[in-house]
Amino acid sequence: MIETTLWHPVADSASLADAPLPVRLLAHDVVLWRDHFGQAHAWADRCPHRGTKLSLGRVLHTDEGSRIECPYHGWQFAAEGACQLIPALPDFKPPASHTACTHEAHEAHGLIWVRLQTSRSLPPAFDAEQDARLRKLLCGPYEVNTSAPRIVESFLDLAHFGFVHEGVLGDRAHTQLAAYRIDPTAHGFIANDCQAWQPQSNRLAAEGGLVDYRYELTGPYTAQLTKLPQAQDGYQDVIGLFVCPIEPERSRVWFRVALTDFDSSDDDLRQFQDTIFMQDRPVLESQSPKLLPLSGGEVHSAADRSSAAYRRFLNERGITFGVC
Ligand code: FES
Ligand SMILES: [Fe+2]
Repeated sequence: MIETTLWHPVADSASLADAPLPVRLLAHDVVLWRDHFGQAHAWADRCPHRGTKLSLGRVLHTDEGSRIECPYHGWQFAAEGACQLIPALPDFKPPASHTACTHEAHEAHGLIWVRLQTSRSLPPAFDAEQDARLRKLLCGPYEVNTSAPRIVESFLDLAHFGFVHEGVLGDRAHTQLAAYRIDPTAHGFIANDCQAWQPQSNRLAAEGGLVDYRYELTGPYTAQLTKLPQAQDGYQDVIGLFVCPIEPERSRVWFRVALTDFDSSDDDLRQFQDTIFMQDRPVLESQSPKLLPLSGGEVHSAADRSSAAYRRFLNERGITFGVC
């Protein structure tokens, strides 16, 4: 499965402290833990001895480095996964076969990313992270009972603003969409020249206006949008969508916002994103099937150009998790 060779977001960096943290990714149980250098580790959440969940154990910081201790018989595993101690046989040197199954972990954009299988893939880009003129904030996580592709497709969709986000991101009196252009990139595509009439495009917007958008698909389950209100120049709000495919029909969602707004409080900004996403969620969870259909079964209009491009992309990449 190609998805296991890609990086996926699984938890907020801030949520991983001293205790092991269980997460689920692509229908696999994963345990996250931090060593005494602050480095995050991601392992299969399964002790090689009797299959117990390591996430029920604890992290120990010893003179020989940090270890995770299994809750059942207390076997201790070092950061590379090797078993260091079997307390029932303290003089026994555990062989390589007693090693825990390790994955790879990486931290970026306020999130912990995990790759189940080694490959040469890179975590999806979010260039706004490096722009010091923008304020960054993580919103979510939001748990959603649907597939990751249904969520990404909705993020790329402009035609629902006037209905689902009426009065905030759209208006029933301004639902017509101008044609936009899809340009392929190495990691997905860019939808250029998107425009939407928005009553309140961000938390501080005082009046409605036409907003220019650029959407970019940065991976199978990640995307970003750049908003360019016409009155502003130089720099712009960027919103990254990062979806964790937990199960084929269950996902966890974060938004990494990079904003020009330095005045609003964190809580107010989060509340704005919460409001918008809580409008999307019931619609997303109502869609049937929850898996995104790649081979027919739904009808399209010319306004669904980015959705068609997204489905084509998933097909070409051989993505199988969350689609049907
Ligand atoms: S099951 Fe983990 S130490 Fe026995
Ligand atoms: Fe929406």
